[in-house]
Amino acid sequence: MSLPTETSPKHCANKGFHLKSLRLNKKLLYTLIPTLLLVLLLLYFIRHPSKPQFYLQSTTISNLSLSSPLLLLLNSTVQATLLSKNPNKNFGVYYDDVRAYAIYKGQQITGDCFLPSFYQEHEELNVLSASMFGTGMPVAASVGFELGRDQVAGRFVLSVRVDGLLRWRVGGWTSGKYRFDVDCLAVVGLRQGVMGSVQGSSACSTNV
Ligand SMILES: *[C@@H]1O[C@H](CO)[C@@H](O)[C@H](O)[C@H]1NC(C)=O
Ligand SMILES: *[C@@H]1O[C@H](CO)[C@@H](O)[C@H](O)[C@H]1NC(C)=O
Repeated sequence: MSLPTETSPKHCANKGFHLKSLRLNKKLLYTLIPTLLLVLLLLYFIRHPSKPQFYLQSTTISNLSLSSPLLLLLNSTVQATLLSKNPNKNFGVYYDDVRAYAIYKGQQITGDCFLPSFYQEHEELNVLSASMFGTGMPVAASVGFELGRDQVAGRFVLSVRVDGLLRWRVGGWTSGKYRFDVDCLAVVGLRQGVMGSVQGSSACSTNV
């Protein structure tokens, strides 16, 4: 007779305790699962923003001159206008340490032109202007030869390069720094003996 009255409160207490801990676990699960999903979603997006897009709008070469054939030193001024577009709906982009320079026949012919750091909103388009100067840039004899030939032909093909560091911004979070490189092909023609610019956007290749 005394046995059931003794065990039943203990049993109930045990049951009550189990129920409480189960409810606690459920609460924990309800907050943990959405948090985990959010983190996974963030990780997915962080790994998958689309690369920024660059277009070369115009390029102008001026002051192109080469020193005596014995010691080939090149002077030039290359002015380029680039369009930079962030194609992402959810990511902003911070650009730092951005520099531009020109390459002709595989050789750098201008010094670096440093561009100010900037932030690009979602799907924003920015215009970047770079004035690149080369003074006494040493070039190989073959480059000097090609340059003479191109001057006669009136058509120069050069490459405008841009590189720097970028950070993605999603929500209030900013990623670490990623290196990016942009390579644009510029075709510059001579107009009545004067080096002119060739207009029209040409797409550049971008690596992040
Ligand atoms: C380069 O050309 C521009 C005009 O196109 C001129 O104003 C400038 O003085 C020139 N610079 C040099 C170093 O010759
Ligand atoms: C290049 O520019 C420098 C400085 O302006 C000048 O001293 C030199 O003569 C120029 N060279 C040529 C080949 O024009």
